[in-house]
Amino acid sequence: MNYNYYIMKMLRLTPIALVLFALVIQSCKKDEQPAAKQDSTKTAAPTASTAPTPGLTLNDKAKKGQLIFFNTSLGKVRVACATCHADGTAKTQDDIIRQGHTLAGVSSRTATWNGMYKGDQLKKYAYGASLCAAIFQNRTDWNIDNALSADEADALNEYFAAINTMPGAMTSNLKIQWASKVMTKEEDTPDENLAKTVVKAIMKLPGDPKAGEPVFTKACGTCHSIGDRKIGPPMVKAAKDMNYVAQTVRFGSMHMAFYAKDVLSDQQVADAIAYIQSQLGK
Ligand code: HEC
Ligand code: HEC
Repeated sequence: MNYNYYIMKMLRLTPIALVLFALVIQSCKKDEQPAAKQDSTKTAAPTASTAPTPGLTLNDKAKKGQLIFFNTSLGKVRVACATCHADGTAKTQDDIIRQGHTLAGVSSRTATWNGMYKGDQLKKYAYGASLCAAIFQNRTDWNIDNALSADEADALNEYFAAINTMPGAMTSNLKIQWASKVMTKEEDTPDENLAKTVVKAIMKLPGDPKAGEPVFTKACGTCHSIGDRKIGPPMVKAAKDMNYVAQTVRFGSMHMAFYAKDVLSDQQVADAIAYIQSQLGK
């Protein structure tokens, strides 16, 4: 093997790599929609956080768990656990409004998913992560039991233990303020009367498009834009009926997770809807 040859070759390639890098930076800067920058459809490869975090030591199993946590190609929907949950590390300390709560502290919770998982089930289903992998990431076409292998659940449990006291940790059981029990079958739809009440509470509020822009960007922007398909459909297609948008936000839809009231208030949803309307010229 002639290593010198390879070193010379790499040195010659360096300026090309630099030019490419500069071009990529340029094109990102041109893109004024912050939402578009977060288009994770194009970065389907696992994006592991390898930078060491102060106060966080990971054994091999926990490292495997961390890889799963940041993997945007775990299931057919290109979202990672980290898209919807913070973990207390620097990587998830941003201004994204995530649908789920932090997983720092989850190892101390004695029941998750509002009591759906407790006792022996906690470790088996990685504290309820299996449900997310099956439904929101569409790993196994709605089958929660097979969504994570025993090894994967173990690895996640080990990662949860490692992040248990990270900043923002929530160690007591969550009281998930959902509009109704999460829909875990493809054919599930929200109860009509309940949906009407929930939608009305939002739509009776005067929405402010200006206040709604950052809500849309930080909450919906990871997966949606107004005109282009990202992980979810563009608003020009998905937002024909604003009552339906409000319903989708609160109940979720198929593989889209719901937003609980403490994650987005009725006013924030009304504002986001006003912003979408302003963009659609409605
Ligand atoms: C599309 C968004 C989304 C994705 C992706 C997602 N989750 Fe969730 N997850 C939620 C929501 C919403 C809840 C409801 C509870 C909450 O607000 O945290 C939840 C709940 C949970 C819970 C139960 C928390 C509790 O105390 O009740 C755990 C554990 C969990 N998720 C882990 C994971 C893991 C691990 C992954 C990746 C394999 C993952 N989730 C992927 C949205 C998501
Ligand atoms: C983590 C990704 C993600 C986030 C964040 C997200 N969505 Fe979605 N959304 C989806 C996906 C995926 C679909 C397609 C549903 C499916 O087929 O599973 C969708 C579908 C929709 C639809 C169409 C529903 C239907 O049944 O036709 C609407 C409306 C919508 N989203 C609105 C919003 C709004 C408003 C927000 C922000 C408050 C938001 N979404 C945040 C992923 C997301």
